[in-house]
Amino acid sequence: MATDEKSPRFARLHGRFERRAVRFALAILVVLSVGGIVEVAPLFALENTVEKVEGIRPYTPLELAGRAVYIREGCYVCHSQQIRPFRDEVERYGPYSLAAESMYDHPFQWGSKRTGPDLARVGNKYSDDWHVRHLINPREVVPASIMPSYAFLATTPLRVERIDRLMRAHLRVGVPYSEEQLANARADLLAQAGAADDATEMLGRYPKSQARNFDGQPGVTEMDALVAYLQMLGTLVEFDWRRPRPDMIR
Ligand code: HEC
Repeated sequence: MATDEKSPRFARLHGRFERRAVRFALAILVVLSVGGIVEVAPLFALENTVEKVEGIRPYTPLELAGRAVYIREGCYVCHSQQIRPFRDEVERYGPYSLAAESMYDHPFQWGSKRTGPDLARVGNKYSDDWHVRHLINPREVVPASIMPSYAFLATTPLRVERIDRLMRAHLRVGVPYSEEQLANARADLLAQAGAADDATEMLGRYPKSQARNFDGQPGVTEMDALVAYLQMLGTLVEFDWRRPRPDMIR
């Protein structure tokens, strides 16, 4: 062979590798891992791989508790929270999702299974009362709905004392809750649910949050938390868009 004549040393080396399957496989593995590390390692060194977007903030304690209910009840099994940048999706649901919108989501709720509609922009689309009635009995507001009933949420008191550990868990995985936010977790939760005299401080700590009695009943229930969460979805970033007229939704 021509190579043999030109470079016998290279041919010998090559021969040594090629004739031993295990050694050859290991050598391939080493070469591939170097390539992999070169591609992946810089991502760890970057402070942030998600482009910052104005308006995005960590969840309020009540929203975070509502999100925990959402995950516990498996709402994500039928609902995605990710609008893709395609015309049919954008016309139906609104502006497509930005990476930053789920930067404080642990775990994220994107998904590709849509038995029901995408919920990424459902915030402020319906009234609180609509959500409560829909969750208690979906067929009352959408006669053909196949969504299960979650009536028990309206009578299940929210376990407020769990919020401290939930927020600390999110802090551990990188959500930048301040000491002030952590110290006021329970008070802020009650204030947002309309169960305290004044929500001004809470609203100051979490810009663009909405405080009121979400389920319209005394006491803070899991329904309050879930509706607070649903009503904030997709409302943090200012997009220049108008919702489709209600008569065009379905
Ligand atoms: C078995 C599948 C299924 C599960 C589980 C489910 N949903 Fe639904 N959901 C649907 C379907 C189908 C619709 C469309 C019909 C309707 O509006 O009821 C829907 C509609 C909705 C809507 C109205 C969306 C819109 O833009 O009109 C909301 C809000 C909603 N679901 C929230 C939830 C929440 C919160 C949970 C968990 C507590 C949940 N869903 C669990 C199937 C499901």
